[in-house]
Amino acid sequence: MIPDIKRVETLISAEDVQVRCAELGAQISADYEGRDVTFVGILKGSIPFLSDLMRHVTAPLQIDFLECSSYSGGMQSSGAVRLVKDLSHSIEGKDVVIVEDIVDTGHTLRYLLENFLARGPRSVRICALLDKPEGRVDGEEFTIDYVGFTIPNKFVVGFGLDLGGYFRNLPYVGVYSPPESD
Ligand code: IMP
Ligand code: MG
Repeated sequence: MIPDIKRVETLISAEDVQVRCAELGAQISADYEGRDVTFVGILKGSIPFLSDLMRHVTAPLQIDFLECSSYSGGMQSSGAVRLVKDLSHSIEGKDVVIVEDIVDTGHTLRYLLENFLARGPRSVRICALLDKPEGRVDGEEFTIDYVGFTIPNKFVVGFGLDLGGYFRNLPYVGVYSPPESD
């Protein structure tokens, strides 16, 4: 079923998202000046964020993608993380920045950090557009090096985030309220 756009209420405007992308891009540029940096976008939610963020990065940059899934298309995290598509290139010896749409329970990042560190990168940092700290489950504590916005524990869509695959194309981030019967 196609979800109803009328149930989406703007939380972060398109303008504010763009301003933050520029700020984070400048911060990353300063931190990695003169170094080689690889952005690893986590598909599919990081697509708009990575795309807008990377245009503000002045350090030498390469990009790669990885897809994993923890949600089964609904509004609850299943807990189990599954690798759907692996990187195209080796990250051995590379300075990697994982680019994520949102950190909620932390399961996905925990899995990704362990998976990446086993491949011998020079460094791994995390950049997330959104952080939902109240969603974190016990034991999932780690530093998110670059955070766009810290948000309340609500289900959000837009700017890459989806409900059942929809709403990723919205240029803003909004809270989705399900109908009473859901
Ligand atoms: P975590 O493993 O629970 O931290 O969740 C990470 C993934 O769950 C994100 O990359 C999103 O794909 C998805 N997710 C978590 N919260 C939301 C939300 O509010 N809206 C849409 N997707 C979400
Ligand atoms: Mg995701």
